[in-house]
Amino acid sequence: MRLTLKVWRQPARNKPGKFVTYQVDDANPDMSILECIDVLNERLTEKGEDPIAFEHDCREGICGSCGFMINGVAHGPLPATTVCQLTMRHFKDGQELVLEPWRAKAFPLIKDLVVDRRSFDRIIASGGYISVSTGSAPDGNAILVAKEDSDHAMDAAACIACGACVAACPNASAALFTGAKITHLGILPQGHPEKDIRALRMVAQMNEEGFGGCTNIGECTAVCPKEIKLEVIAAMNRDYIRASWKERDNLVTTITPFTEWSYGSKLKVDPTR
Ligand code: SF4
Ligand code: FES
Repeated sequence: MRLTLKVWRQPARNKPGKFVTYQVDDANPDMSILECIDVLNERLTEKGEDPIAFEHDCREGICGSCGFMINGVAHGPLPATTVCQLTMRHFKDGQELVLEPWRAKAFPLIKDLVVDRRSFDRIIASGGYISVSTGSAPDGNAILVAKEDSDHAMDAAACIACGACVAACPNASAALFTGAKITHLGILPQGHPEKDIRALRMVAQMNEEGFGGCTNIGECTAVCPKEIKLEVIAAMNRDYIRASWKERDNLVTTITPFTEWSYGSKLKVDPTR
């Protein structure tokens, strides 16, 4: 297969970037797009040029490391597929592919196709944990969970934190990611003790990081490789509003009224809680 790769090259955040066009004349249709870039990088290295920087780890759709825009679509044209799983046979011989990094204020560029997604880590650290001891497998099995709840929790837990939802959203909102992380813990009995604090802290951290508000456009779920549903955003909103009311005496800053909360609440939980 012959392909033209038009790749965003930018040596660092504070340096100018530009598209550079590369020709790959012998791409194997069974290669993933990452393997195609590997081959291109080998040739660039042999010529003494800087290889294209991109992130990857598992290369089987599990870790969430990989991800960039292909012809304007996060993770490319195939639904429920990460770029590491996307093989060249899904493109036409002679096609031009435009590869760009995720573009969002909260994901500052590191190099070429690599962005800094530590804002996601900070959202998780703010409340994405449980404090109860879950014990070993037999202990876990002793806590009965309704099938419907465990299914919903598992669906939400499928989020691999790739960031495609943010990149696809015109508001650069992280509501699908944060909703998935809040929901998968909040549904299960082991996640109940911190349910309110978790929703308050994670939503506050999401807003603190500079992600935009959710306006229910739905681009996030359309590109999500794990098909996380918009329902997790509704669940997050429910948890957040309920927790705001229950914890109202412990909230140290209340700037944004409920009517505007989805556009960026400034609610903060008393850090001593
Ligand atoms: S919700 Fe989907 S698109 Fe967003 S980070 Fe999780 S897996 Fe990626
Ligand atoms: S490299 Fe792990 S999901 Fe793509």
